[in-house]
Amino acid sequence: MNASYASGQTGGAGAVSADVWVWSLDDPPRPEAVMLGWLSAEEIARADRFRFPNLRRRWIAARAGMRSLLAAQVGAAPDALAFGAGRKGKPFLLGQDGACTFNLSHSEGLGALAVSSAELGVDIELISRFHEGVARDRFSSMENAALEALPEDQRNDAFYRFWTAKEAVLKALGTGFSLASNSFTIDFADRETPQLVEARWPEADTAAWQVRAFDPHPGFAGAVAIRTARPVRLSVDYWA
Ligand SMILES: CC(C)(COP(=O)(O)OP(=O)(O)OC[C@H]1O[C@@H](n2cnc3c(N)ncnc32)[C@H](O)[C@@H]1OP(=O)(O)O)[C@@H](O)C(=O)NCCC(=O)NCCS
Repeated sequence: MNASYASGQTGGAGAVSADVWVWSLDDPPRPEAVMLGWLSAEEIARADRFRFPNLRRRWIAARAGMRSLLAAQVGAAPDALAFGAGRKGKPFLLGQDGACTFNLSHSEGLGALAVSSAELGVDIELISRFHEGVARDRFSSMENAALEALPEDQRNDAFYRFWTAKEAVLKALGTGFSLASNSFTIDFADRETPQLVEARWPEADTAAWQVRAFDPHPGFAGAVAIRTARPVRLSVDYWA
């Protein structure tokens, strides 16, 4: 897979690149022994706190993929990278002079890393059952109205499209769900390029956001949110 997501706002001079890689956490492209060698003592201790071996393996594969892909971006070895974390836990690279920003997401057996020069967030979710109560609580009234206006057989997939876009915005902000997800509204009329149209945050500038939906893998939904007013060129590839 190497998908470039074209749209009216895509490409050309002045565009901001957002590159996403996805990979299997159950069958990652490197042996576990190699991946473990890239992790810090703190990361290994965190991995060892998982009670279930499959969850430990997946977490190692997610963290190792993140290290390997970021190392290639900044021209360093995967085990040489160091990370800091924002107030609500958003990781960032230490000592790379803002070379790139990134965000990681994992859902079941799939990992995704998004990298850009602009602040961004990514979310992927395994598409399962539509949660009506969750939509009521977590989506704004305009988003709920848009969901309810859809034919019933489209609502399940739409719920995950909406969810991933909203979580991607919260991850780009670095707040995660400590900020109410119904404090902003995304217009999903355009399937691939949803628009942030309203936000009740201090000094919110909705024009300075780009949201892009992508298909990380069959059966999963994905979205990136990028804090830029410039057009975005999104590419999606596998870590191999
Ligand atoms: C950020 C958050 C939405 C992620 O939820 P999740 O279901 O684990 O979703 P994902 O798999 O998409 O993302 C996980 C990754 O996002 C990154 N992340 C962690 N905190 C983040 C934040 N505040 N903002 C953006 N990204 C964050 C990490 O790389 C994390 O990977 P890890 O769990 O392997 O370390 C959720 O944890 C949250 O809302 N956190 C903030 C709320 C809070 O107050 N948390 C208390 C800790 S200070």
